[in-house]
Amino acid sequence: MKDVGVILAAAGSGSRMGQDKLLLKLGGYTVLQHSAKAFASCPDICAMVAVTRQDLLGKVRQQLEELELPFPVQVIPGGKTRQQSVAAGVQTMSGKAKFYAIHDAARPLVTAEEIASCLADAREYGGACLSVPVKDTIQQMDGEGFLELTPPRDRLRCAQTPQIFDAAWYRAGMAEAKRLGLDLTDDCQVFRLSGGRVYLTPGSYTNLKITTPEDLPLAEGILAQREQESNTQESNTME
Ligand code: CTP
Ligand code: MG
Repeated sequence: MKDVGVILAAAGSGSRMGQDKLLLKLGGYTVLQHSAKAFASCPDICAMVAVTRQDLLGKVRQQLEELELPFPVQVIPGGKTRQQSVAAGVQTMSGKAKFYAIHDAARPLVTAEEIASCLADAREYGGACLSVPVKDTIQQMDGEGFLELTPPRDRLRCAQTPQIFDAAWYRAGMAEAKRLGLDLTDDCQVFRLSGGRVYLTPGSYTNLKITTPEDLPLAEGILAQREQESNTQESNTME
């Protein structure tokens, strides 16, 4: 069923990277292109709306056109905060979309399998988010820099994207956030304002978000390893 609309959030300023991180190349494609391309093999996608900065509209449009994705792609300006950017994407998205798959353009390494398993959970439960167990102990600090709270680690998860939601419920959550004057950093928080539940689909540590300069060699390494693995598989099947 082609009823999933992808909202690609690409309107950030990359302040922690110190440059436009989405336009950096990893192998043959930019970070933005990898993130969009990951959805190409998902047969359920009906449309993509990429939300970006006003000054990048032309570049982003061109880079996405180059990919010749198998669904219509629109590129529109985003907002000051992530919630405003996603809301702009929702307003532009085709009414054919019964689910919204919201994805950080800064997560270029998400795989088709991860997207498929998140979507299967969203269809079953109404909302789903890829996430992984936290590796480190998390500390909450008080206002003076001292340890205030150490939450038990076994139930803590790091949120990733895509996060996939029933469209009508997500829009209800958006309306509620607006009514309450909330600006939330995570789309699950918006969705939950509708009363919907979010299943935490087990993801993979390789679906990292390109945030600081240290993330680039890590991402390059993961991509190179994947390429090597697929080459080995190819040569094995040829033998
Ligand atoms: N994003 C967006 N609109 C905003 C802010 C962020 O669409 N107003 C997007 C980013 O482009 C990114 C994703 O949300 O793909 C996750 O955000 P983050 O990693 O924080 O990216 P930036 O906000 O660009 O980086 P920074 O916080 O370091 O400035
Ligand atoms: Mg940010």
